[in-house]
Amino acid sequence: MAILVSGGAGYIGSHMVLELLDRNETVVVLDDLSTGFWSAVPPEVTFVKGDMGDQELVERVIAEHGISEIAHFAARIVVPDSVSDPLGYYLNNTVKTRALLESAVRGGVRHVIFSSTAAVYGEPAVSPVPEEIALDPINPYGRSKLMSEWMLADVARAHPLSYVALRYFNVAGADPKGRSGQSSPNATHLIKVASQAALGQRDGLDIFGTDYATPDGTCVRDYIHVTDLARAHLAALDHLRAGGANLTLNCGYGQGYSVKQVVDVVKKVSGVDFPVRLSPRRAGDPASLIAKADRIRAELGWKPEHDDLEQIVGQALAWEEKLRTRNAV
Ligand code: UD1
Repeated sequence: MAILVSGGAGYIGSHMVLELLDRNETVVVLDDLSTGFWSAVPPEVTFVKGDMGDQELVERVIAEHGISEIAHFAARIVVPDSVSDPLGYYLNNTVKTRALLESAVRGGVRHVIFSSTAAVYGEPAVSPVPEEIALDPINPYGRSKLMSEWMLADVARAHPLSYVALRYFNVAGADPKGRSGQSSPNATHLIKVASQAALGQRDGLDIFGTDYATPDGTCVRDYIHVTDLARAHLAALDHLRAGGANLTLNCGYGQGYSVKQVVDVVKKVSGVDFPVRLSPRRAGDPASLIAKADRIRAELGWKPEHDDLEQIVGQALAWEEKLRTRNAV
């Protein structure tokens, strides 16, 4: 029995792999390395470089390694990119998920954990946003993931496969033991960009939009530590293995921070007053996204262990520093 982690060389997938290995699970990583890093995959893991949409490859991997579960992370995730390249997002996130699901069904995979997103909510009329609200994504990224949620639900009705779809809010931070983090030099995540600015790797930071209907005019997000998120996946896996029902769950803390508040925390923790420019809005951004976060606790018994923005920022900065040292060698 082994678990296949698509996108396991990426930011969140690599943290999931570490948590699985800490539990002595047998892991196979499938990643095309388009945004992930081979160096993020621990040596004790079987690594297959390839495309999750390549059904011949995926079906061979499932058969050869006795894959019984898939944690499906591989995706494109940048909201403004999805606005400028909708077809690329529908291909990567929707069409290839369809292919992966067909391979899973053909190969007799029992359980799927799917990386969904708070972007399926669009501009929710209530905050914090509960899972059962009507879904109305406002960008192609959110729609590409919502279509995958629908496919998964239909597949689970038609075949002996169960699933948990996890709707991530804003994932941030790095492995507390320093083994992984957000490694892409071109990442667009706010905390990553602010950390790079604090370390002098960027000439400051742009705040995208200061005229939103939020307390300080900048967008509000719910930042969840990547290790807490990875552990939510483990809890989901245990739930499915125990015969639990299909679930769709928010992954957030239920606590919102504005862009300005995040920037202030990064300045405080780093001790660096880097330049900040007040810039126009970025395409596709909703004003506020905060999770109603009780269903996951009730259903999976999951509890956050790292819900402290200063700690999240401290670990993001430490990882950035580590990358800088590594790249200098
Ligand atoms: C992130 C995820 C997305 C997920 C969403 C759920 C990434 C790349 N995107 O999107 O997959 O669906 O959370 O809530 O992980 N900002 C700035 N300046 C910057 C960078 C960002 O002002 O240099 C602002 C953005 O405009 C936004 C906020 O900070 O208001 C967060 O942006 P970002 O970290 O890119 O994440 P989301 O777009 O919220």
